[in-house]
Amino acid sequence: MSTVPVAKPAPSSSVAAKNAHNIDSMLKEKRVFKPSAKFAAAARIGSFKKYEKMYKASLKDPDQFWGKAAKELTWFRTWKKVCVWKPPFAEWFVGGKINASVNCLDRHLDGPLRNKAAIIFEGEPGDVTTLTYQQLHREVCLVANVLKKHGVKAGDRVMIYLPMIPEAVIAMLACARIGAPHSVVFSGFSAEALKERINDCGAKVVITSDGGFRRGVALKVKRNVDEALLGAPKVKSVLVVQRTKQDVTMTPGRDYWLHEETQQVSSVCKAEPFDSEHPLFILYTSGSTGKPKGILHTTAGYLLGCHLTTKYYFDLRPEDVYFCTADVGWITGHSYVAYGVLSNGGTSLIYEGAPNHPEPDRFWRIIDRHKVNIFYTAPTAIRSFIKWGDEWLAPHDLSSLRLLGSVGEPINPEAWMWYYEKVGGKRCPIVDTWWQTETGCHMIAPMPGATPLKPGSATLPFFGVDAAVVDDNGNETEPNVGGKLVIRRPWPSMLRTIYGDAARYRKTYWSEIKGCYFAGDGARRDKDGYFWIVGRIDDVLNVAGHRLGTSEVESALVSHPDIAEAAVVGRPDELKGQAVVAFVTLKNGVQAGPGLKEALRAHVAKEIGPIAKPDEIRFAEGLPKTRSGKIMRRLLKEVAASPTGEIKGDTTTLEDLNVIAKLKQAED
Ligand code: WTA
Repeated sequence: MSTVPVAKPAPSSSVAAKNAHNIDSMLKEKRVFKPSAKFAAAARIGSFKKYEKMYKASLKDPDQFWGKAAKELTWFRTWKKVCVWKPPFAEWFVGGKINASVNCLDRHLDGPLRNKAAIIFEGEPGDVTTLTYQQLHREVCLVANVLKKHGVKAGDRVMIYLPMIPEAVIAMLACARIGAPHSVVFSGFSAEALKERINDCGAKVVITSDGGFRRGVALKVKRNVDEALLGAPKVKSVLVVQRTKQDVTMTPGRDYWLHEETQQVSSVCKAEPFDSEHPLFILYTSGSTGKPKGILHTTAGYLLGCHLTTKYYFDLRPEDVYFCTADVGWITGHSYVAYGVLSNGGTSLIYEGAPNHPEPDRFWRIIDRHKVNIFYTAPTAIRSFIKWGDEWLAPHDLSSLRLLGSVGEPINPEAWMWYYEKVGGKRCPIVDTWWQTETGCHMIAPMPGATPLKPGSATLPFFGVDAAVVDDNGNETEPNVGGKLVIRRPWPSMLRTIYGDAARYRKTYWSEIKGCYFAGDGARRDKDGYFWIVGRIDDVLNVAGHRLGTSEVESALVSHPDIAEAAVVGRPDELKGQAVVAFVTLKNGVQAGPGLKEALRAHVAKEIGPIAKPDEIRFAEGLPKTRSGKIMRRLLKEVAASPTGEIKGDTTTLEDLNVIAKLKQAED
């Protein structure tokens, strides 16, 4: 395999090595999986050479690359300038006029896609609804007209607080159609979190539902809205989707059933042209610390990023059934359940409920039932599948799958191998996609059919993405020396600002490394230029002068056959600076005990070196996670550091508070 010549050579002196803030990398993953000839023959980018050539060209002349790519979208008026960059503020496709809903819907209605499934929905109780492009278009137009009837105009913010039902996508596209930026809040978030977000973005209308099905019960979605609105007086109308038919309180003059409202409006809603830079949505980041940030994305650049990455990274074809397990409340749900899939004329399968309802084989059942071809999920889910046991896969035919995706965290090499062998039957490339709410679309990922895969590495950047790993002075680190992951030039789908707080935008993303975008991740590049994300910079451990990324130690633990999941944090230690504390959960049926602790220490020492050997190992029943599945190491740090296990930090984004209570009791 050739190295990637486009990476600027790292400084040859030991300057980088001496930099106190570099991260020592010790993971010894050596496996490489070349693309299969069969996959490559049919892929859009069928060879590594072709990827390299296109990547080089895209960096050499980005305006030419993006300008050509943007022609794949449907425009009312072509742009005059591809990019205007006044750091740290970018404008893309300046002078162009576009409508995101036209790109996701109208443009597919003139040909064979018209009667093809745009959305296949499976509810948790097992009900299935299919919406063709034509039908989806009609629903979107109806809801857009209802929004207009309720006084929503271009620029007005609309809050969407819905479970994973087709109406969530319909609502987003209806907003896009009339130029009203949407802000989707995950329906598992509390009334308090919803209120805060409604007030921050000044929403006028809320679209919600009576409830949604999760683990066999009807969630009280509308009730949370009622509670939130007690503290959000500016909301004029609430449009309620009927999903569960449970009892809800409807406040006269404010709350309306959406299915009644749609009967009173026309199904014709002409799409208006909007400026390329017209705001498309505000999405609040899960906010593991501090006040949530309203990440603002605009129309043309965002859509182009989603469109291209869906096409290239998922190799999406009209005949594919594509299943992304993310909730629309996260950026993955925006970019890869809705916009990217629909702009490509794809079929997006949406599942309402829990992965283990009624039993832990639900996803495999869905893949078998709908003959899913592309499956996109998160490492946290994969580790749960492993924990639940392979027997849940056995009865199901997964042979329709041809590509697997991963997102949200570094995927531990062992989890990668399991996914590759057990789910993908060794025939499906694993597209490990590194990106963020802020980046809008995939930034680093393997091109399926072209890029040789290394378990645990997100591999190489997307076209036009100038990603690098640098030290504190902005110099690239040497191969395998960790540093900060930055992007050195703007890209179309980047966030434009933090809603209402440009100063925070500048400070958070553009002040750490001069001239670069930096959003908190540590990484290293190997000798082939591959990127390995080692975890959040804030979580890096400092053990006896060595800086270790959390993900490598965790991956070493997870590679032990008894371990399902691991989270590693530092505890202040007089001697070493920090001691390594590991919280681990065991696979079903495995017994905890001192013998296992010793075995785990020895295992880590063997896998990555004695320096990373955990000083303390705690067996836990579960790990504290955000609702999008990220481990909240901040809370674990507190548990590890406090003799009583007391937590003072913010726990509002925690999925399950009981986990913390149980952790306190976890013996060490
Ligand atoms: C992490 C999710 C390693 C990373 C799309 C990033 C990953 C944060 C990966 C963004 C990956 C996401 N490998 N780490 N493939 N994907 N991350 O905003 O720390 O919810 O900064 O966006 O998730 O999370 P967000």
